[in-house]
Amino acid sequence: MTRGRPIRAERAPPARVLAALLTAARAVRRQAHAPYSRFQVGAAVLDDAGRIHAGCNVENASYGLTICAERNAVAAAVAAGARSLRAVAIVTRQRHPPATPCGACRQVLAEFGGDDLPLLLAGPTGAAQEQRLGALLPQAFRLR
Ligand code: THU
Repeated sequence: MTRGRPIRAERAPPARVLAALLTAARAVRRQAHAPYSRFQVGAAVLDDAGRIHAGCNVENASYGLTICAERNAVAAAVAAGARSLRAVAIVTRQRHPPATPCGACRQVLAEFGGDDLPLLLAGPTGAAQEQRLGALLPQAFRLR
C-alpha cells in the first residue's frame, strides 16, 4: 500500500481561473500599505471551493511588524473557511525575473498546499511565470 501524497502532480486549475487569480492579485496590490519600502505586493489564493482570497502587504512604522501580502491572503482564506489551496498569484513591480515569496511565506503556503501548488509570479502587466511550491521550498517542514 502506498502512503503519503499521490505521485501524480495535481492538475493546475484552468487558464481562465488562473487569469482571474492574477487579476485579483494585481487589484489588491493597489491597496498595499508600503510607505517605508514603497514595494507594493499583491497576492491572491484560490481555495479548493474555487474561491479567490486576496491580501496585500501591510507595513508598520515599527518595521518588524510588517506582514507580507501572501500571509494576509492566506489569513483571509482561512477566515473564510478555506483549508486547502489550489493556486497562488503574487504580483510586485518586478518582472524579469518576477519576485518570489519570502521564506516565511513559502512555509505558510506549505501549510495549505503540497509541493505541486502552482505559484504564478508576475509584474504589473504581462504573463506570469509559473513555479511549483516544492521547487521554491524543497522539504518544507511538515509536522507528523
Ligand atoms: N513582501 C511581501 O509582501 N511578500 C514577500 O514575499 C516579500 C516581501 C513585502 C514586505 C515589505 O512590505 C516589502 O515587501 C519589502 O520587503
